[in-house]
Amino acid sequence: MEKTLVLIKPDAFGKNHAGDILKIYEDAGFKILAAKVMKMTREVAAKHYAEHIGRPFYPALVEFMTSAPLMALVVGGDDVIKKVRELNGATNPAEAAEGTVRKLFAEDKTKNAVHASDSKESAAREIPIFFGACEIFD
Ligand code: CMP
Repeated sequence: MEKTLVLIKPDAFGKNHAGDILKIYEDAGFKILAAKVMKMTREVAAKHYAEHIGRPFYPALVEFMTSAPLMALVVGGDDVIKKVRELNGATNPAEAAEGTVRKLFAEDKTKNAVHASDSKESAAREIPIFFGACEIFD
């Protein structure tokens, strides 16, 4: 089964939207294969967002992602990587389509409710940062 890493970020998790977001993925036919509530450390942030180190928005991104608990998920299903990104909507919520997670729950480009892997390679790299193989039920 194709798998993707999703993070319900501190903004959406703190506002109790985890259930709403899980329902959007489940209603689309996807399975929750792993889930945990955790506080991201700066070390995990640097690993997960390695490609963004040095970008102007990186310090604010790390500050935000390590500020409060988030929910990490592995979501599975056919074409899940592409489809979950469609369900999430554009990175900038101002540009997100109606009904998408970011249109419904995001505030701005940093507090944008969710992260999802953008390719098979990213999913394969990101999932083991958050989950051991025995924590994923497929
Ligand atoms: P995410 O999918 O978690 O991956 C990288 C994150 O960086 C992205 O979502 C946004 O939250 C953040 N990001 C990307 N571009 C910008 C930007 N121009 N300004 C602020 N944050 C950004």
